Amino acid sequence: RVAYVNGTYQAHGNAVVHIEDRGFQFADGVYEVWSVFDGKLADYEGHMQRLGRSLTELRIDIPMTAQALGVVLRETIRRNRVRNGIVYIQITRGTAPRDHAFPKGVAPSVIVTSKPIDLSKGEALAAKGAAAVSHPDTRWGRCDIKTVGLLPNALAKQAAREKGAYEAILYDEMGMVTEGSSTNAWIVDENGKLRTRDTQANILRGITRAAIMKLVAEEGIELDERAFSLEEAKRAKELFVTAASSFVMPLVSLDGEKIGDGKPGPIATLLRQVYLAQAR
Ligand code: PDD
Repeated sequence: RVAYVNGTYQAHGNAVVHIEDRGFQFADGVYEVWSVFDGKLADYEGHMQRLGRSLTELRIDIPMTAQALGVVLRETIRRNRVRNGIVYIQITRGTAPRDHAFPKGVAPSVIVTSKPIDLSKGEALAAKGAAAVSHPDTRWGRCDIKTVGLLPNALAKQAAREKGAYEAILYDEMGMVTEGSSTNAWIVDENGKLRTRDTQANILRGITRAAIMKLVAEEGIELDERAFSLEEAKRAKELFVTAASSFVMPLVSLDGEKIGDGKPGPIATLLRQVYLAQAR
């Protein structure tokens, strides 16, 4: 395997950044994940635009043009012979002697990795439906920025895994669902209405979420972009999550309680199919 690190391609096993990289010391950096599907990057533009926005919000200099970044992404995919999998980019403020305030005249660090993923595993899980657990959302106030500061997300995901669950569904002090630890959350509520939390609130504006919203409109399904509570999620007909890495994943239990009839619902199943069909 090969990784791109600051202008060169290196053997993955030896690829390193400096100990005083601000990504390492302060989580002062951003990232993006694309799924690679039959050699194609899914929702390419959307992720590239969000990367630009994350960098702008943190005032990290954009190190190269989006076009040049695209060349690096594709070259990393090619060198790793990935047909189906993911490509990951991380850009940090760079390496400088440790000081909380921004350093001057420092070039950002850019790393890109890509790995194959066996799509049949996700397909099998989606066909069966996955388990989820709830977890308090303890993150900071700028979850709209895709930063590498993912410790609360990692703790939530670990709590889910220790209970044998696929995803942790995060909820705020009001008991309202914010999103998943690495996904956006959706329900088909008791009245049959498709709902997902609005992005005015403190959540990531998922690119898969946006793509699904477009497909939902095309399918003539009505969407209510409005927060739902954990209780509503438990009583919902369907519960599912979306992300670049999992597309649309139906969830069939939450904290051990069955969602709907305990099988993947028709809307989640349809949206997964149409999303995968258009991504190819
Ligand atoms: N996670 N919410 C959070 C907190 C996320 O980390 C992600 C993505 C999403 C879904 O966003 P998108 O549809 O743009 O992938 C929502 C990526 C896949 C990750 O951290 O690996």
